[in-house]
Amino acid sequence: MSAKRTFRVWRGGGDGGELASYEVEVNEGEVVLDVLHRLQATQAPDLAVRWNCKAGKCGSCSMEINGRPRLSCMARMSTFADDEPITVTPMRTFPVIRDLVCDVSFNYQKAREIPSFTPSEDAEPGSFRMRQQDVERSQEFRKCIECYLCQNVCHVVRDHEENKEAFSGPRFLMRVAELEMHPEDTADRRKAAQDDFGLGYCNITKCCTEVCPENITITDNALIPLKERVADRKYDPLVWLGSTIGLR
Ligand code: SF4
Ligand code: F3S
Ligand code: FES
Repeated sequence: MSAKRTFRVWRGGGDGGELASYEVEVNEGEVVLDVLHRLQATQAPDLAVRWNCKAGKCGSCSMEINGRPRLSCMARMSTFADDEPITVTPMRTFPVIRDLVCDVSFNYQKAREIPSFTPSEDAEPGSFRMRQQDVERSQEFRKCIECYLCQNVCHVVRDHEENKEAFSGPRFLMRVAELEMHPEDTADRRKAAQDDFGLGYCNITKCCTEVCPENITITDNALIPLKERVADRKYDPLVWLGSTIGLR
């Protein structure tokens, strides 16, 4: 069964643009990305859309659909009311290159700033023994497909370009948390979490967790435990004494 639906798609480049309206055929079982592809094939051959797997696994097709950050390949048309126009816009937090494609290099820059896994120098390959709960915690965080929807929705940077330098965003604070809680990582990541990656900017609104397509419990399992560890360090009397006399 097919029907015509109204799609309002943001068209333009980095210096501005506008919503263009199209009537597009939609067939049973399709997702928003299917309809955007039909739009490219029939009416707007120059429409820029980034995608790759069409299976919710590559993280490329992130955009905002009726104002909500989503993967367009996982947004089923059947979940929208029949008479509801579908408005599709690029992620708002990152600069637009063209149409629905953003420059997400902010995220690559933040990823590079995090010091890598630091095992003790005398650790032998294959000698790590980890408890199951430590394994499961890392596995949850590593489900991340780097779609950056959490980075896009977080209010700290969404409308505040000025915070981008100081704040790494939920995806990368989650990486810091993963390393901080890793039993074989020897680096103390707590001071860096606060000073270098902007953990203090997060006020636990949980919007990041709400939009994560992998259902990673970013706030409860990564950000809050990291905040607790930072607080423990801050109120540790030895750390207080050390910082007072300039040792730590
Ligand atoms: Fe996407 Fe979730 Fe990874 Fe954030 S944590 S980048 S929302 S998969
Ligand atoms: Fe932002 Fe998530 Fe914290 S949305 S404010 S990083 S809980
Ligand atoms: Fe890969 Fe949508 S195209 S996640």
